[in-house]
Amino acid sequence: MIRFLRSFVCFNFRTKFEKAYSGLSLDITINALQPMTAKSVTVSKITTHVLQEMKLKGEKISMLTGYDFSMARLLDKAGIDVILVGDSASNVMAGFSSTLPITLDHMIYHASSVVRAVHRALVVVDMPFGTYQGNWKEALSSAIRIMKESGADAVKLEGGVEIIESVERILSAGIPVMGHLGLTPQSIHKFGTYVVRATEEKEARKLVEDSRLLEKAGCFSIVLEKIPARLGEEVARNSKIPIIGIGAGKEVDGQVLVLHDMLGITMEFSPRFLRRYMNLSEDIVTAVQNYIVDVKTLDFPNDRERY
Ligand code: KIV
Repeated sequence: MIRFLRSFVCFNFRTKFEKAYSGLSLDITINALQPMTAKSVTVSKITTHVLQEMKLKGEKISMLTGYDFSMARLLDKAGIDVILVGDSASNVMAGFSSTLPITLDHMIYHASSVVRAVHRALVVVDMPFGTYQGNWKEALSSAIRIMKESGADAVKLEGGVEIIESVERILSAGIPVMGHLGLTPQSIHKFGTYVVRATEEKEARKLVEDSRLLEKAGCFSIVLEKIPARLGEEVARNSKIPIIGIGAGKEVDGQVLVLHDMLGITMEFSPRFLRRYMNLSEDIVTAVQNYIVDVKTLDFPNDRERY
């Protein structure tokens, strides 16, 4: 019964998907059927304009973080719309306790690995802490380095009015910009806590104002992190660009999660908004324990596994 329901849902998803994109010449099945290494095959590509069309048509946008070639290849094959090379790489890839230590060189390294894997998804790269807050010239040269050296499609910056000049200058160089408001992890030392943001009227009004400013400046999308669902809904309803939520309720235009959290690789982080689709940490530990036992007991390699 569950299998039947699942195939029914998949069928409907595909029909709906194909319907939604007829006219945009997108076909998720192209990537799914491709040999994983066939980079030469021409496939449709998600652009900022496609995301805009999705908002207009009410098609929700799926976004996940990705930091390396192998995972990004799987995300793209699965048909994800946007891969965010998040500065959460600082936590999940490098083991730091915040996003602050990661550098521009590290982000370019992660982003270029992702870009080499991706055919279809839009690749957005976080500008790391300290590379855009100082002044617009530094912001512009950091964004240009990301685009030139990684081949990504867009950059993401945290903040509103405080960084608006940098956003405008980056946009004027022809680089698409995604905004990020609400619980902006690069400001964790200012917040002092990871609790939900903008519950007070003053902060909520500033967030609404910042989202208007970012949209007016020309950002193609905004991420809203860990804010009340009714505020997420208000911003999404009043903006023409796609609003992507992480802990911002379901009335926004799309959702993003950190890949390692949704796959259950990281287990120490369990905010209410996180849905775990796998418990990979347990599977990996079990697999490695089985391997250790096999090696120690001379079960591996066996006669068929040698030359
Ligand atoms: O770096 C990141 O993973 C992010 C998401 C939480 C949106 O910015």
